Order: sequence, then C-alpha cells, then structure tokens
Amino acid sequence: MAKAISAKGISRDDIYITDKVWNTSRGYEAVKEACKKSLKKLKTDYIDIYLVHWPAAIKHHKDWEEINADTWRGMEALYKDGLVRNIGVCNFKLHHLEALEKTAEIMPFINQIEIHPGLPQSELIDYCKSKDIVIEAYSPLGNGKILQNETILKIAKTKSVSAAQICLRWAIQKSIIVIPKTVNKERLHSNINVFNFELSDSEMKAIDRIPYCGGIGIDPDEADF
Ligand SMILES: NC(=O)c1ccc[n+]([C@@H]2O[C@H](COP(=O)([O-])OP(=O)(O)OC[C@H]3O[C@@H](n4cnc5c(N)ncnc54)[C@H](OP(=O)(O)O)[C@@H]3O)[C@@H](O)[C@H]2O)c1
Repeated sequence: MAKAISAKGISRDDIYITDKVWNTSRGYEAVKEACKKSLKKLKTDYIDIYLVHWPAAIKHHKDWEEINADTWRGMEALYKDGLVRNIGVCNFKLHHLEALEKTAEIMPFINQIEIHPGLPQSELIDYCKSKDIVIEAYSPLGNGKILQNETILKIAKTKSVSAAQICLRWAIQKSIIVIPKTVNKERLHSNINVFNFELSDSEMKAIDRIPYCGGIGIDPDEADF
C-alpha cells in the first residue's frame, strides 16, 4: 500500500484511504497509537477515513459502553489533530450508536455494516439516515452466498444482467455505498457497471422479502475477537 501511495505520477489527493483500528487497540491512548503506526506504515500524513472495526462485544465486556466511548474519544482527537479526515464505525448496532450519542462530540460519519439481500438491516439503516450517518454495505453479495437465490436470478434474467449486479443495484437504490470484493477483472468491471438499469418498486420489494440465505453472519454483540 505504501508503495502504491508513493508511486510516481499519482497524487496523494487522488487516493482515498480507508483504514480501521482493530479490537486490540481499543481506548483513548491505544487508538491514537494504532493510527500513528498505520500512518508510518502507509508513509502518508493523513488517512481519509478511519473506522472502529468492531464495537466491544457485550458477551465479553460488561463495560462495553465505556470502552466504546473511550475509543471514540481517541477517534475524535485524531480528527481534531488532522491525522484523519473523517471518522466512523463498523458493525455498530442501534444500541451501540445510541450509547455513543450520550458522550460523542462528533457522531460517526459512516457506519460500515453487513447488508445484502436476506439481511436488509432496515431499522438500523433508518436510524443512521435519521442521524445523517452514511451507510456502507460490506459483503453486499452476501460473501458470494446469495448469488444462486431464485428471486435474484429471475430478476437478473429479465434485465440481462448478473445476479451480483442485481444485489449491488438493490443496495444503491437504497442510497447505500457498496464495497464488493473480487479478484477477477471481468467481475470487477461488471460490478461497477450498475448505473444503466433500474429496479422497479415491485422488484425492490421482492428482494426485500428474501429470507436470510447466508453471508458473514457475525453478530457484533457475540463476536469472540
Ligand atoms: N467491516 C467489517 O467488519 C467487514 C467484514 C467483512 C468484510 N468486509 C469488507 O467487505 C468487502 C466485501 O466483503 P466480502 O468479501 O465478504 O463479500 P462480497 O463482496 O459480498 O462477496 C465476495 C465474493 O463474491 C465473489 N464475487 C464478486 N463479484 C462477483 C460476481 N460478479 N459474480 C460472481 N461472484 C462474485 C467473490 O469471488 P471472486 O473474488 O472470485 O470474484 C467472493 O467470493 C471486503 O472489502 C471486506 O474487507 C468488512
């Protein structure tokens, strides 16, 4: 990554870097230290958006509220010091955000959560929208596990597009940012090519009704890491 950032002919301003603080660096001082280490490794003097990777899991931490609040104070300090241009969270459920709101000076700019057909997360999305928190969907293809779903395949066929394109378009029409992953160049191109067709209301609703059929499936309150 550092090599790509410092490559000749590419201006730093043309690269958007997202980085995350891992669970072993929770708390005011630790989060600041982790970010400074990342900046050193990346050989850059700012990160575009810095995210808390997981909230402290309720299963393991009775004091999860305090831990998250203290970690967030560290994030706010990094933002104020100009080392990160935006701050956000990942995997924060409604109760995590409501708790954070009690102490936060700055609310997260973004919440990166698992969203795909079968896991629409509607209540959390509505809450984030009401607080102007941008939603970013990770595993928008359900980690590849929903691409054989009958409803998705049927709609894909009528539109002459791929099942992956249907999943991505469904999220985009809900004003959600998507970050699909592929190591395949052709798939990368087709995953980007989702702005020349539209899903109708009835197609959107049919996809909304798909039951859970796979994904990463980690409940942030139960995570063992
Ligand atoms: N914040 C978090 O806690 C968190 C957790 C999990 C993931 N993420 C992030 O979310 C991103 C994506 O998540 P993900 O990798 O779990 O799942 P995903 O993007 O939903 O699915 C990736 C899988 O789908 C396949 N795929 C991609 N495009 C395809 C296409 N057009 N047709 C058929 N198959 C296709 C990929 O295989 P090929 O590569 O072979 O194409 C891969 O197996 C990653 O950048 C990851 O870092 C974040």
